[in-house]
Amino acid sequence: MTIAYGESVALMGPSGCGKTTLLSILAGLMLPDTGKLDYWFPGLPSTDRLTAAIRRHHVGIVFQSIHLIPTLTVLENVEIPMFGVEKSADRRLHRAREVVERLGLSAFADMRPHQLSGGERQRVAIGRAFANRPILVFADEPTGNLDTVSSDHVVQALLDMASQTNGSLLVVTHNPGVAACMDRILTIVDGRIVTNGAKAPARLGTAS
Ligand SMILES: Nc1ncnc2c1ncn2[C@@H]1O[C@H](COP(=O)(O)OP(=O)(O)OP(=O)(O)O)[C@@H](O)[C@H]1O
Ligand SMILES: [Mg+2]
Repeated sequence: MTIAYGESVALMGPSGCGKTTLLSILAGLMLPDTGKLDYWFPGLPSTDRLTAAIRRHHVGIVFQSIHLIPTLTVLENVEIPMFGVEKSADRRLHRAREVVERLGLSAFADMRPHQLSGGERQRVAIGRAFANRPILVFADEPTGNLDTVSSDHVVQALLDMASQTNGSLLVVTHNPGVAACMDRILTIVDGRIVTNGAKAPARLGTAS
């Protein structure tokens, strides 16, 4: 599979087929037993491994189980990934506020995750993933437990944030409506990735 700059891709397939595993490998959180990865990030030498440093600066991950920090506010949860990347506290706060506003979460900025609905929490997790303006974002079933309206908000939030940074997006989903919002759909069938359509002007990364 290849993911191009600025492209949004849906990854589908039955439960247990390996979507989260593939996403974890692509995000550098797990090593593949076989196969090869190649990443081309702007301004960086090509590499076959996403190191923690590259991930911190250029990659965002929205996990299947959201993982917000319960003791921190919405604003602080969004600010967290910028520590170690953006030295200026003013700029961190400014960016966190910008992201929270863009996701329609300003009214919740000072609240803690337990005071939010599932959909609102998911939007905070998206904000956190996009805080550092990543060029590659992975989202694992971001609309898993949401109704249609909340699900639409979450998908729009993902696409809006990705277009703001011109980032590439890989979204794991069981929802055909969510998948249809992406440029292209990949499905895992019998352990292999099947490509529906293609759009690969410039490569960001490939795995085989
Ligand atoms: N850490 C692990 N060690 C060994 N096997 C694992 C591990 N994590 C997942 N698996 C197995 O690998 C297979 C793929 O799991 P994975 O979580 O990638 O599925 P998935 O496609 O994301 O499913 P779902 O749609 O339910 O989230 C499953 O059979 C699972 O039991
Ligand atoms: Mg999964």
